[in-house]
Amino acid sequence: MAKPLDRNLAFELARVTEAAALAAARWMGRGDKNAADQAAVDAMRHALSSVDMDGVVVIGEGEKDEAPMLYMGEEIGNGLPPRVDVAVDPIDGTTLLSKGLPNAVAVVALAERGTMYYPPGIVYMEKIAVGPVGKGVVSLELSVEENIRALAQARRSEPADLTVVVLDRPRHAALIEAIRATGARIKLISDGDIAGGIMPALEETGIDMLLGIGGSPEAVVTACALKCLGGDIQCRLWPRNEEERRQAEARDLPLGKVLTIDDLVSGDDVFFSLTGVTDGELVRGVRYFGDGARTETLAMRSHSGTIRRIQSVHNLHRLRRVAGERYE
Ligand code: FBP
Repeated sequence: MAKPLDRNLAFELARVTEAAALAAARWMGRGDKNAADQAAVDAMRHALSSVDMDGVVVIGEGEKDEAPMLYMGEEIGNGLPPRVDVAVDPIDGTTLLSKGLPNAVAVVALAERGTMYYPPGIVYMEKIAVGPVGKGVVSLELSVEENIRALAQARRSEPADLTVVVLDRPRHAALIEAIRATGARIKLISDGDIAGGIMPALEETGIDMLLGIGGSPEAVVTACALKCLGGDIQCRLWPRNEEERRQAEARDLPLGKVLTIDDLVSGDDVFFSLTGVTDGELVRGVRYFGDGARTETLAMRSHSGTIRRIQSVHNLHRLRRVAGERYE
C-alpha cells in the first residue's frame, strides 16, 4: 500500500458499532434473534451512511436478493474519499444475544478498496488464530499437537497451561479429542468465533488460540482485528458438501491452500471497531440506567497499532430529541 489514509476512521466506526449495540441490546434474552439482528442492521446502516467515505460492502448480510440492507456490493458512506472495502457483522452471536449469553458483539471493519477477500459460495473456513506470540509459530499445515507444542514453547510454558477456544459443534469432535490429548484446556463456545478469534491477542482473556471451522465472513472480520492487534490467523476454505466443492472448483477458488492473514485482508491500513452487546471477555455489554446507557468499544487501527477502549455514556433522552425513536 502506498500512502496511509490520513484520518483515523476507527473513531467514526466506534459510533457505528455503538449504534448497532444500543439498538440490539434491548433484545437480550428475548428469544428473537432475527428482530435483534434487524435492529442492529438498521442502526448500523444509518450510522454508516453518514461516514465520510466511499465504501463498498465486501463482507455483509448476504447477497442483495436475500438482504435488503448491508448486502455484499452495496455502496455505503456519503461517497467522499477515501475509497474503502467495508466488512460488517451488526451482531456476531445473534443466538447468544437472544439467550442473553456472553460475547455477542457488533463489529465493523474498513480497509483500502480491493484489499478484503471473500470466497463466493464458501460458507465456512477452517481457522487457526493466535496472538502476537504465536505469529510465525503456528501454521494450518501443522497438526493440532504440533501447533499446541509450538505455541507452548513460544510462551515458555507447557501445553497444559494453554487454553484453546473451539466452537461447540459435532464437526469438531475429532479436533476436540486431539486438543485434549495434548493436555491443553478447552473453552467451548456455542457461537461467536469473531470474539473467540480476537481473544488470543488480548492477554487478559486467558485464551491462547482459536481452532476449528467457522463462518468465512467471520474469518475476514477476525483477520482485520488481528492485523490491528499484531496477531495472526490462517484459514482454509471448507466446502460443506460435494456441491459446494464442485462450485468452488468451477470458480477456481484456492481449495486446500492456506490463506494467510494478508490473503484475507491485504495492506496495512485496516480500521476496526467492536462494541459489546452482552458482557464478554473482550468488552462489557450494554448497560441501561435511568434514561441512559453505557457501552464499551474496542477501536483500533493497524497502521498505528493503537488500541483504544472507549467507554461511552449515551443520553437516550437527548439522542431521541436529535434522532427520533431510533433510540429506545
Ligand atoms: P450469527 O451471529 O450470524 O448467527 O453467527 C454466529 C456464529 O457462531 C459465528 O460466530 C460463526 O462463525 C458461525 O456462526 C458458525 O456457524 P455455525 O453455527 O453454522 O456452525
